[in-house]
Amino acid sequence: MKSIVIRQPNELVIEERDVPNPAAGEVRVKVKLAGICGSDSHIYRGHNPFAKYPRVIGHEFFGLIDAVGEGVSAERIGQRVSVDPVISCGHCYPCSIGKPNVCTSLVVLGVHRDGGFSEYAVVPERNAWAIPDSIQDQHAVMIEPFTIAANVTGQVSPTEQDVALVYGAGPMGLVTVQALKGVYKVKQVIVVDRIPERLMMAERSGADWTINNSEFSLPDMLAEKGIKPTLIVDAACHPTILQEAITLASPAARIVLMGFSGDPSSVIQQGITGKELSIFSSRLNAHKFPVVIDWLKNGLVDPEKLVTHEFDYRDVTDAITLFEKDQKRCCKFLLTFAK
Ligand code: NAI
Ligand code: MN
Ligand code: ZN
Repeated sequence: MKSIVIRQPNELVIEERDVPNPAAGEVRVKVKLAGICGSDSHIYRGHNPFAKYPRVIGHEFFGLIDAVGEGVSAERIGQRVSVDPVISCGHCYPCSIGKPNVCTSLVVLGVHRDGGFSEYAVVPERNAWAIPDSIQDQHAVMIEPFTIAANVTGQVSPTEQDVALVYGAGPMGLVTVQALKGVYKVKQVIVVDRIPERLMMAERSGADWTINNSEFSLPDMLAEKGIKPTLIVDAACHPTILQEAITLASPAARIVLMGFSGDPSSVIQQGITGKELSIFSSRLNAHKFPVVIDWLKNGLVDPEKLVTHEFDYRDVTDAITLFEKDQKRCCKFLLTFAK
């Protein structure tokens, strides 16, 4: 089989490997489609501190189960599945309180262990979620990015009365916007980014108002209309955003951080306590695959609004290079492994 391997930072090869056999409790997935994520490019470029090399990247993938390991029902063979990349121990403190996404021995497929950019991948049986026939392949492959939005919104239980502000109209901002509008029916969702083309994508995903903060001052724009967001999501993830969010937030607002910057954020505590703000963070997803499968079954979100490109997996280097270079035209890229 062919696998897309990052041998070391900046060295991507399509390698011939033996088709793996599923161990006890595992299934083998014949991969059909996979999504390219910013973190795949970070591992490729050597910018992910968690990655070990060589590594088969890819944590957003969909395919068919074609073999099962010991203890797994043979009835699963042939199932269409989408794979949750979060592998957890099930008994540490975070696991015991329902946060396997921060398990003390967390393993993420495509990061700590070989992932889905491969003709076949072996994964724990419980990570392979069966996809109902009503959900098409192109939607099923997008479940993982939407689980990020399910996790973010799950932290703060948005309501229709919320006025939400989302920083960043990249894939992460857009899935969040779709969840806020499509699932939670939030009255007003405002999106801020610096790239007009991305703001147009945010509008297509349901944003009520978009602001280009390279042209306009976001604080001034909100002040003019007397808007104080009650829910703020930082999907742009620059360390300076937190203090701006604290300043702009309504009293009693919630702020969700998604960034992994290693640089300090300078914040004034009075701004947080004086308004009794709640600050949350969100990493990966905690058991959100069934939640998003339900969203898709009910047509509450539309993955197609994010997909801008589809490539054959053999052209992965071109795909990642374009994905990195052109944020104006590029959002979610899919790789085809099998028809
Ligand atoms: P992306 O780079 O495609 O999108 C980020 C967007 O934010 C861009 O459109 C950019 O123009 C905009 N932006 C940057 N600085 C800004 C600022 N100061 N004001 C307004 N807009 C600004 O990235 P993607 O894939 O959407 O991911 C976003 C962030 O989320 C990344 O930092 C990534 O590391 C993080 N992430 C976090 C996850 C989690 O589970 N916590 C999961 C996946 C990604
Ligand atoms: Mn991803
Ligand atoms: Zn654990």
